[in-house]
Amino acid sequence: MSNIFNSSAYNEARKRAEDLLKKMTLAEKTGQLSQFGTSIYSDDEQTFSDHFAEGKVGSYLTIKGASHTNSIQRDLLKATRLPIPAFFADDVIHGYRTTFPTPLAQSCSWNPEVTRKTCEISAKEAYRAGIKWTFSPMVDIARDPRWGRIMEGYGEDTYLCSRFSEAAVKGYQGDGEKMEKDHIYACMKHYIAYGACIGGRDYNTSDLSLQTLHDVYLPPFKAGIDAGAATVMASFQDVNGVPSTGNKYLLTDVLRGQLGFNGFVVSDAGGVVELIPHGFAEDLKDAVRLAFDAGCDMIMAGDPYNDFLPKLIEEGKITTEQLDRAVLSVLTLKFLCGLMDEPLVDEEGEDCFFCDEHMTAARTAAEECAVLLENNGILPLTPENYKGKRVALVGSLAGYDGKVHLLGGWSCLSDHNHTVSIEEGLRKALSDCEIVYSRGCGITAADNDNITIAEAVKASAECDVIIAVVGEEAGMSGEANSRSDLTLTGNQHELIESLIATGKPVVLLVASGRPLVLTPYKDKVAAMMLIWQMGSAVGDAVANILAGTVSPSGHLTTSMPVCTGQVPIYYNHTNTGRPALGRWPFESKYRDCQIAPLYPFGYGMSYTTFSFENITVSDNKMAKDGKLTITLTVRNTGNFGGASVVQLYVRDLVGSCVRPVKELKGFEKVFLKSGECKSVTLTLSASDMAFHNFNMEKVIEAGKCKLWISQSSDDEAFEFDFEII
Ligand code: GLC
Repeated sequence: MSNIFNSSAYNEARKRAEDLLKKMTLAEKTGQLSQFGTSIYSDDEQTFSDHFAEGKVGSYLTIKGASHTNSIQRDLLKATRLPIPAFFADDVIHGYRTTFPTPLAQSCSWNPEVTRKTCEISAKEAYRAGIKWTFSPMVDIARDPRWGRIMEGYGEDTYLCSRFSEAAVKGYQGDGEKMEKDHIYACMKHYIAYGACIGGRDYNTSDLSLQTLHDVYLPPFKAGIDAGAATVMASFQDVNGVPSTGNKYLLTDVLRGQLGFNGFVVSDAGGVVELIPHGFAEDLKDAVRLAFDAGCDMIMAGDPYNDFLPKLIEEGKITTEQLDRAVLSVLTLKFLCGLMDEPLVDEEGEDCFFCDEHMTAARTAAEECAVLLENNGILPLTPENYKGKRVALVGSLAGYDGKVHLLGGWSCLSDHNHTVSIEEGLRKALSDCEIVYSRGCGITAADNDNITIAEAVKASAECDVIIAVVGEEAGMSGEANSRSDLTLTGNQHELIESLIATGKPVVLLVASGRPLVLTPYKDKVAAMMLIWQMGSAVGDAVANILAGTVSPSGHLTTSMPVCTGQVPIYYNHTNTGRPALGRWPFESKYRDCQIAPLYPFGYGMSYTTFSFENITVSDNKMAKDGKLTITLTVRNTGNFGGASVVQLYVRDLVGSCVRPVKELKGFEKVFLKSGECKSVTLTLSASDMAFHNFNMEKVIEAGKCKLWISQSSDDEAFEFDFEII
């Protein structure tokens, strides 16, 4: 795969970097490996100008705005001996100013092009504001929705996450060999297995087999690196006892040795200093030695590399070669993106923020992310069917509060004043209806909830249909926001039950950063849809779906738990020797809960229906270097336009290590008008069946297998036996 690292432009940049490196002092070198700025842990912005003369500042994070970055850059270049401009980086996770659906929501589109596009626009807006580097994509596999950062990634599946990882990198960096204007460097994070934190508790230990590490958590990073990701961020937590930030096996042997990564590694925030509380480093100097020697090239938070690397080199504990390799990788990327030649950004370019084109992209992305879980036929609320009717809209997130909270966490420099609320969107889309809005209650309990809930119930009882919006505030997921209970907070449950008790049909919209427990509502509401946190255009997207302008086409990328006690829960689990088949008491099950999720990975409804016809598989035998081709016709058999997601799952029935009961190995989203059909071809290579055995050898084993062509991970309508020979 061609990318920025295997190009003539890179080689030229590298040569220029080598020439510059020869002129640099030790302080200037460690400066290039030191990032400063207003981290998310502090509000006071500092520019560390006292560091400029010695060239000790190589990069900033979270500085906002073209004029602001230019001002700091001018001061820095004026004061430093060598004119090496600083990298400006930020957490452009799902938008810079125009805010797109959270990454988890985007993954539910099952359309990597959605993410490529949103990352491309995010990069353009960030670039116009002086940013050259984003701490994104976050590609941590997450199997535990108690972990708040599940909202930042692309769900529980390795294959799907890998496709979105490469799409994000291409969106940010472009898919060519050069870094063109309006493109910024990506950063694959958090390396690695951050989502495997025990108990779903952020920053907690990840303790997992090397097989799982390599087969489940590593491939999304490899996909992004193959796509040319310029940087990688080390994760905070310890992996099997060695913190990632100081883990030479992970940062050097695997990342550079096995994955062939050529960029540079940055620590996450306090990751280097935290080697001390981890009990891995004795003091800060020891932490710097361990981190830098492991392969953590740049420190995100301040001076420790400036302060201690010179001493460590003097003591021979870090070599000049190690230092120069790290500095060279940073300088090369500064040359490659044009920063060395044009250190200032055009201050006229910020007029693209929230422009119609970007807001339209935000809406169309959001429309593909909603996951319809239940529908008794009440949806869509087409304008012709609901003309003159009264539609109750209930919930704080449907009104003004939603302008803020439906932007989601990590929304960078979003502006809720540009958010289209669900109420605003619905009043436009259902203009012939009477929309009766009432707050009902907020996300957290308030003293007057009983009053506002009663008001909402009274107003709703006089309407023809009730749309209730519940979920989470933006700040309830994301970093340091693990939850021990995934049920609805505050008095939301009471609100829903009271609305159901009116006897009017309730359409329940769930707006959250993470999967929540929706079990009490599944069989009581007329419809239920996950709308996640969809960003600036949420109101128009949700209204278009409710009004039937577009069919929902999202499918789950995380298993939805029946109760919190089920997590971690994921579809690609092993079978155990006692699968829960209900044959006798001694099975792998719970006394008090089913083991299947409420809704499985891959599940999602549409307003229409689809048939998979003429499914053919090229052979029932596959050599270890061979492949199978699966073709089928997908037909829209309903009355609405919509999109089907064709999913290819496999199972290796017998292996030297037990294999998952199902693994996604291909998918394609197909948009079809009513009655239309299209041919789809998927390919399964024998290499897709490879895994790391107990001895950590990557193997493809002969034996019997199955494949399914499905509309959800629990759909086994089409099953096919094949054999690897
Ligand atoms: C945080 C996050 C990381 C983010 C960084 C800079 O601690 O873990 O994802 O990029 O700090 O804000």
